[in-house]
Amino acid sequence: MALLKELCYGTCRWYFQLNSTLVNLVDKPLKSKDLDIHCLLILGMYQLSHMRIPEYVSINETVNACVVLKKPWAKGLINAVLRKFQRIVSADQISYADDSARFSYPEWLVTLLKAEWPDSWEEILKAGNAHPPMSLRVNLQQCSREGYLELLAEQGITARVGAISATGVYLENPCPVDLLPGFREGYASVQDEASQLLPSLLAPESGHRILDACAAPGGKTCHLLEAEPNIAQIIALDIEARRLDRLQENLERLNLSGARVKIVAADATLTEEWWDGEYFDRILLDAPCSATGIIRRQPDIKLLRTPADIDRLCLLQGRQLDRLWRCLKPGGFMVYSTCSILPAENSEQIAAFLNRTSDAESKAMPEDWGVLCRYGRQLLPHDNGTDGFYFALLQKMLPPDKPGHGLVSPL
Ligand SMILES: C[S@@+](CC[C@H](N)C(=O)[O-])C[C@H]1O[C@@H](n2cnc3c(N)ncnc32)[C@H](O)[C@@H]1O
Repeated sequence: MALLKELCYGTCRWYFQLNSTLVNLVDKPLKSKDLDIHCLLILGMYQLSHMRIPEYVSINETVNACVVLKKPWAKGLINAVLRKFQRIVSADQISYADDSARFSYPEWLVTLLKAEWPDSWEEILKAGNAHPPMSLRVNLQQCSREGYLELLAEQGITARVGAISATGVYLENPCPVDLLPGFREGYASVQDEASQLLPSLLAPESGHRILDACAAPGGKTCHLLEAEPNIAQIIALDIEARRLDRLQENLERLNLSGARVKIVAADATLTEEWWDGEYFDRILLDAPCSATGIIRRQPDIKLLRTPADIDRLCLLQGRQLDRLWRCLKPGGFMVYSTCSILPAENSEQIAAFLNRTSDAESKAMPEDWGVLCRYGRQLLPHDNGTDGFYFALLQKMLPPDKPGHGLVSPL
């Protein structure tokens, strides 16, 4: 299973680089009906250039896979191409025509990141090609972070604390969750450290009514409940019912399920279908996004995402902001977050929202992590070892006819 995962992830991670070499190794491009053979060639090339599998095994297994695919005619082609590739790899003769091939990203994304992050685009691209660390969120209701490090050490698991959160722990080597001490009892969850910054920004308080508008699979819902056990109610809403099953499982494992959590499968933008009209003290909008900040975890994003997706997601995020804003109590706070590193989904999205929303104000976050943007803060994937992540803190102004209500930041 681990080998299969490595083959799939690695092939996606290095697809653009390998494919740029492949086009020079075949006389003419393969027909679209032979996409499987094209993929098989990339898979073989990945093994030859990035894995320690003996070369003859990689070549033989890849050639034999043609039989499984019922395309034995491709055996000779695959054998010839992989042997040619093997020769240029051993002679260190690979050169790349452009940065798309050099860093192994789609051209449009390289161009966009160069424009948006002119000083750090190379570091960002390299970080996106790295293997991600396994990071945990310690459930402070069950155990202190230091106590959990001791439990890990007792199991022979080397770990260190994260630098920017109160709950983050990094394992030196990834391991199955069942080997983690107290995992089934809810001592810890797998979560990137960037996401763990949320409770310090949303600052939930005893008695609060909170909406987590895009909640599944529930990493942040659970963390909010761990951070403030006396939240009056949290509505965990998501459009994908199937993903909400995982949220329920997480709540149960962490001993957080109960009357305080209401799980709702609905479209957040259709407030008339699920909102009872009672304002929320806090809203989290962890919006669907390009996921360009987590390419190291999901390298298939390089192949699947298109520029048209970014436009579509920006429209959805804007609509979600507008619709959910109506549900926020005057004086209340909303955190808008994404795992994107594209300003169009982040700072520019918030700028446009503030422009059209007279009672919304962006609040400063007294933090020192990430890049301070015009609005909000951006974690970049090469900076602290976290995923790329964005947070903005917004407050709904009280109507002008309510003097004397000083608006106080939750921080
Ligand atoms: C970034 S993920 C949320 C991750 C989650 N907050 C966590 O910490 O585990 C974005 C979520 O938005 C959901 N989503 C997308 N469009 C939505 C909509 N219109 N209404 C509600 N949820 C939506 C997706 O199903 C997905 O689960």
